[in-house]
Amino acid sequence: QKITVETARLKSDQTGYDRASTILADGGLVAFPTETVYGLGADARNDVAVARIFEAKGRPRFNPLIVHVASIAQAKTYVDWSEEADRLAAAFWPGPLTLVLPIKPNSGLSPLVTADLPSLAIRMPAHPVARALLSTFGGPVAAPSANPSGKISPTTAAHVAQGLDGRIEAIVDGGSCDVGVESTIVGLLGEPMLLRPGGLPNEIIEAALGGAVPHHQDADPLIAPGQMTSHYAPSAQIRLNATDLHSGEILLGFGNVDATLNLSAAGDLVEAASNLFQMLHLMDKMDTKSIAISPIPDHGLGRAINDRLRRAAAPRP
Ligand code: TXA
Ligand code: MG
Repeated sequence: QKITVETARLKSDQTGYDRASTILADGGLVAFPTETVYGLGADARNDVAVARIFEAKGRPRFNPLIVHVASIAQAKTYVDWSEEADRLAAAFWPGPLTLVLPIKPNSGLSPLVTADLPSLAIRMPAHPVARALLSTFGGPVAAPSANPSGKISPTTAAHVAQGLDGRIEAIVDGGSCDVGVESTIVGLLGEPMLLRPGGLPNEIIEAALGGAVPHHQDADPLIAPGQMTSHYAPSAQIRLNATDLHSGEILLGFGNVDATLNLSAAGDLVEAASNLFQMLHLMDKMDTKSIAISPIPDHGLGRAINDRLRRAAAPRP
């Protein structure tokens, strides 16, 4: 089914937030910046609005969504809070961390948000535009990354428009996202577990909890249903850990190398994360068959970068 709507461009000012809130309240879809990537928001209590997210993205229904809230108090109305949740939220919210907690039976959220799981992924974003929009709207906003399912995540309003123009009601333009990779997801359903490496390095979470937070690997689809292997895929093939260049390839570099584009010539992982999706989008437009990528150290934000790159390089469905 073809969806065709006029996609409004809204400014990141109070007039824009008021308009965006009205669209959300009417069951519409609004893309907005967070500090990680742009999200595609809908009122998380509205079944039809949430269903439209899946339709606009072409996202499988079994892949649940993250609910975005304006405060810790609001989060506590939807999930069974815990001592670990308290510690992590006090230390890292607002910020690039999503917590998975047991959902309250009468949360009022659409069951499509959780894909009928007994748990809910929830986060309080730090971006001033996201915060202003969430507090103007007042309700819970379900928001996956604002890209067609399986494609590169958006870090600018232009990326969102490229993938979703004509399928969503509005885009709030708040410039480019600083962190550049999605939030870290920590499961708190038993022992704390890293479900997705992301914008908050696991080492920092472990320091706050005073113990190891093991990385849940992809094998168990019931625990992390969205961690499908091929994702973030540009049209070109991707070759990882490239220390030389094969014929016909262009290089996405890291560190002191001769490259078409360099994630960080200085070898800074924070800079590399913030450039990652932007540079993949750019290289995707360069009409090449194959992109080689320099090795990236696998610690701190490098874990999130390598996770995204492995999925970008994975065999496509
Ligand atoms: O930074 C981010 O987290 C961005 C911005 C927009 O907030 N959002 C984002 O959403 O990355 P999305 O839909 O692209 O990724 C959500 C991930 C999926 O892998 C999904 O499977 C997982 O969260 N997830 C959602 N609910 C879950 C649950 N109850 N248990 C385990 N994983 C869950
Ligand atoms: Mg995504």
